[in-house]
Amino acid sequence: MNEKTSFPDQVQLGRTHMSISVVGLGTWAWGDRLMWGYGKGFGDDDIRQAFEASVAAGINFLDTAEIYGRGRSESLVGRLIHLCNTPLVVATKCFPYPYRVSARWLSKALNKSLKRLHMEQVHLYQMHWPFPPVSIESWMNAMADAVEAGLVRAVGVSNYNLEQTQRAVAALARRGLALASNQVSYSLLYRQPEQSGLLDYCREQGVTLIAYSPLAQGLLTGKYSPQSRPPGLRRLRFRRNMLERVQPLIALMREIGEGHGGKTPAQVALNWVICKGAIPIPGAKNAHQAEQNAGAMGWRLSSEEVAALDKAASF
Ligand SMILES: NC(=O)c1ccc[n+]([C@@H]2O[C@H](COP(=O)([O-])OP(=O)(O)OC[C@H]3O[C@@H](n4cnc5c(N)ncnc54)[C@H](OP(=O)(O)O)[C@@H]3O)[C@@H](O)[C@H]2O)c1
Repeated sequence: MNEKTSFPDQVQLGRTHMSISVVGLGTWAWGDRLMWGYGKGFGDDDIRQAFEASVAAGINFLDTAEIYGRGRSESLVGRLIHLCNTPLVVATKCFPYPYRVSARWLSKALNKSLKRLHMEQVHLYQMHWPFPPVSIESWMNAMADAVEAGLVRAVGVSNYNLEQTQRAVAALARRGLALASNQVSYSLLYRQPEQSGLLDYCREQGVTLIAYSPLAQGLLTGKYSPQSRPPGLRRLRFRRNMLERVQPLIALMREIGEGHGGKTPAQVALNWVICKGAIPIPGAKNAHQAEQNAGAMGWRLSSEEVAALDKAASF
């Protein structure tokens, strides 16, 4: 058995019939100027190359949202998927803006997303946050209506804690549907889904846990340090002492990666998420990042390595 066969590169999305790659492609940065500097260090050509490199490397799962770049990310995804012959699984999200005071807004938002994506049915439609005033049950009912109308293949949520996920599961079950996924922040540096029991619950229920910011927004790639701080808003988040404290973990990731034929810290960080049973969706701004991130597939860390990383990340 070769390495590829022993470590499948695709898994089932929730209990649906759709298969997704164990590493997805996050597209928040595509069109986003404020946080990610779209149009300055990278542009549409880099994005096209990131997309093409991802698909060529076996990634078939893309995550976007109506809010990313105020629709620009969805438009870019829509353009790119139609220039490509490979069947892909596309996930987008509905944002519960405060002015959306009733779940009736979901179908309006969905129709606009479908237009930007040039799709008649989105594969996975996710409620972006569990914000009030609309209840989880009302949003899930609107999601179920969208499934029945044939506009959505599977339903997901995002940023839902354990109790909120249980409510979404129950609400959909009343409509004869299963929750396919919950997309939450999860990385070596943010372990809340493990600690809260959410990861275990999702595993038991057959709900795919999709891990966003799996590289801790670039921190786990090892390219940022107290001497080389990230640009833009991330500079406020990743203070000098935080960048210092993470260096021993990065050193261990480098050492472990070396033992797997020269895997990078980013690839080790993503593989750690896969080993935990979640699907990382790293953002990529160019072909180089996309290729590197796809290199987290086709191999696995040992359980001893996962345990050593767990320990080194507990600071
Ligand atoms: N549901 C939600 O509320 C939510 C929230 C956040 C994100 N998400 C989703 O999750 C996706 C990923 O999360 P994220 O973008 O926040 O963080 P991330 O994937 O942890 O980090 C992405 C950033 O890291 C850098 N990077 C990526 N791959 C790299 C590589 N191989 N080598 C060096 N640098 C690399 C790039 O930025 P630089 O080159 O500028 O460093 C890239 O934009 C998003 O695109 C989005 O789809 C969802």
